[in-house]
Amino acid sequence: MDFDRAIERIGTSSTKWNKYRGQDVLPMWIADMDFASPPAVLAALCRRLDHGVLGYTDAPDSLIDAVLRYAAKHYRWTIEPDWLVWLPGLVPGLNLACRATGREGDAVVTATPVYPPFLRAPAQSGRELVTVALKETPAGWQWDLDVLERAITARTRLMLLCHPHNPVGRAWRIEELAALIDLADRHGLIVCSDEIHCDLLLEPALLHTPLACVDPAFADRTITLMAPSKTWNLPGLGCSFAVIPDPLLRRRFRQSMAGLVPPVNTLGFTAAEAAYRDEGTWLTALIVYLRTNRDLLQDWLAGAPRLKGFAPEATYLAWIDARGIDPENPLPQFEALGVGLSDGRDFGLPGYVRLNFGCRRALLEEGLRRLEPLR
Ligand SMILES: Cc1ncc(COP(=O)(O)O)c(C=O)c1O
Repeated sequence: MDFDRAIERIGTSSTKWNKYRGQDVLPMWIADMDFASPPAVLAALCRRLDHGVLGYTDAPDSLIDAVLRYAAKHYRWTIEPDWLVWLPGLVPGLNLACRATGREGDAVVTATPVYPPFLRAPAQSGRELVTVALKETPAGWQWDLDVLERAITARTRLMLLCHPHNPVGRAWRIEELAALIDLADRHGLIVCSDEIHCDLLLEPALLHTPLACVDPAFADRTITLMAPSKTWNLPGLGCSFAVIPDPLLRRRFRQSMAGLVPPVNTLGFTAAEAAYRDEGTWLTALIVYLRTNRDLLQDWLAGAPRLKGFAPEATYLAWIDARGIDPENPLPQFEALGVGLSDGRDFGLPGYVRLNFGCRRALLEEGLRRLEPLR
């Protein structure tokens, strides 16, 4: 649990570290952390490998039990075992939600800036993408409900929600979710809520409330996507799940998977169960570490007049307004100084960059030192 320990990732085919291979650029882009997973997860994987036989595997009953208990304890959510649909990744879930709702040519609405697969999933599924911009207010990023309402037409069947939101870092409050539900209800929309970042709330006073729990009467119109992969840093193991209370919607979702979406791999199941059963010391320490990294970055930004950013309430991703550097394409200037970030254009908002601070503090400090000329 020493998050300061340097673990060499070069040579492991890490997507994050491969991108700038051979260049003196610190990779602070794709959303995985440079930390080892919790000891209990690694021990469970070793035990599973010691068994030696890695055949086809169903979702273990003990994993389902672990997820149900975790959701009850941490989200105050009673999930029925039948509601779970296991997926080898969360992004397939976004695409399946598009296919399982409405029909070809229908519209899917989402709010930008947003995690790029939200912007690709509708067209990949024969649907039309409709975007509305989140508002940047003095109090932080917010929904513009009037703009959202005007963007919805009779052809809109689905809303893709990111809760908490990547990249703006908002953990939506119950009132904000209730307003979205009200609107979705009036227009007959299904809402697919991507909650992959929900266990990484950085503000001690915040609790995660799944969209499906805000209004029990609306639960049948929700598809919730969750995974242990961000929280316990397991994205290379591909284990996620959808929670779909309505049997008809669940059937359509499963039908869209048929023959195309493989089952979760054996080690993914093993790691997920160990993660959901872990007693929590590792995660508590991780959140303290990430909060300190976030605060370090915010203090640095406070002295950088050409850069702006609200402190993220959740996860290890900071969304930075770099229009003061270049209103269209600031990323190359960060890369030229030796720091690799995500490009705001991919999220639907040019002039911004996203910085992943899920790394050793010394690496973050080195990154900020390199960026001094932009201050
Ligand atoms: C909001 C969001 N959804 C989904 C994913 C990725 O999910 P997966 O790797 O399971 O497809 C990410 C990864 O960064 C994410 O930020």
